Amino acid sequence: MTSDIVYLNGEFMPLNEARVPVLDRGFIFGDGVYEVIPVYSRHPFRLAEHLRRLQNSLDGVRIANPLSDAEWTRLIGEIVARNDGDDQSVYLQVTRGVAKRDHAFPKDAKQTVFLMSNPLTTPPAAQINDGVATISASDFRWLRCDVKSVSLLGNCLLKQMAVDAGVAETLLFRDGKLTEASSCNVFVVKNGVLLAPPKNNLVLPGITYDVVLEIARAREFEFEVREVSEAETRDADEIWITSSTKEVLAVTRLDGRPVGNGKPGPLFQRMHALYQEFKQTVMRRAA
Ligand code: PDD
Repeated sequence: MTSDIVYLNGEFMPLNEARVPVLDRGFIFGDGVYEVIPVYSRHPFRLAEHLRRLQNSLDGVRIANPLSDAEWTRLIGEIVARNDGDDQSVYLQVTRGVAKRDHAFPKDAKQTVFLMSNPLTTPPAAQINDGVATISASDFRWLRCDVKSVSLLGNCLLKQMAVDAGVAETLLFRDGKLTEASSCNVFVVKNGVLLAPPKNNLVLPGITYDVVLEIARAREFEFEVREVSEAETRDADEIWITSSTKEVLAVTRLDGRPVGNGKPGPLFQRMHALYQEFKQTVMRRAA
């Protein structure tokens, strides 16, 4: 078994042998979309949902899906089998392909399809037990954040602000409303009610976000999907961030101030445990 086997346009090869032409529109324009799929015990988690979101992203930027869901499933299975480790994070990317530089879409370019796998690194125990610190910033990204585009410069700049401040994430506000974070969705808890910013063009429709709301519904958490103001966020009892690789994490500091009492709250602790349980159940069923 080898690590670092990737797939590029029909072939599996070692990562250091994979080459994309410089005129690929992914390189020139950031003209492509991607997915990150967590794999537990060699089973992709929520694969159908990731493939559905991939289709939505492709539709959003008018790239034809080069593969059927069955072909994606087979390829993802193969990349998982060819790489080491039971828990992986599969990255896939589709770009509009290689063409002479011109903003308008090329007539006959063929999509570039790339997949790789990395070890899945879920948060360390200290982050789960103590929560993470964050800062906030104004959300200066484009107005199609629902598309999982590889044009991530805005997200990278916002994430780097967090790194420069020595914290884990940057929470984003647009027009006085909470949107998401640079690479996560965000939930807020106030007076025992879980508040989730609605899915719209300003946020990525997170797969983990959906899992959290499914659990909330099944386990009778009190929750509301609605716009959350910046003031409500700053006054929250709890703040959570969610993503495929972070799962659910408590935010215990925002802009240098404690969130609630500065410790992961009771609803977080309940949701975190239920999320782990949910994952185990789904994986046992898949095995
Ligand atoms: N990021 N919002 C943004 C901006 C994201 O980049 C991500 C995920 C999420 C959470 O989505 P999901 O629950 O489907 O992972 C929300 C991935 C992990 C990344 O870019 O690496």
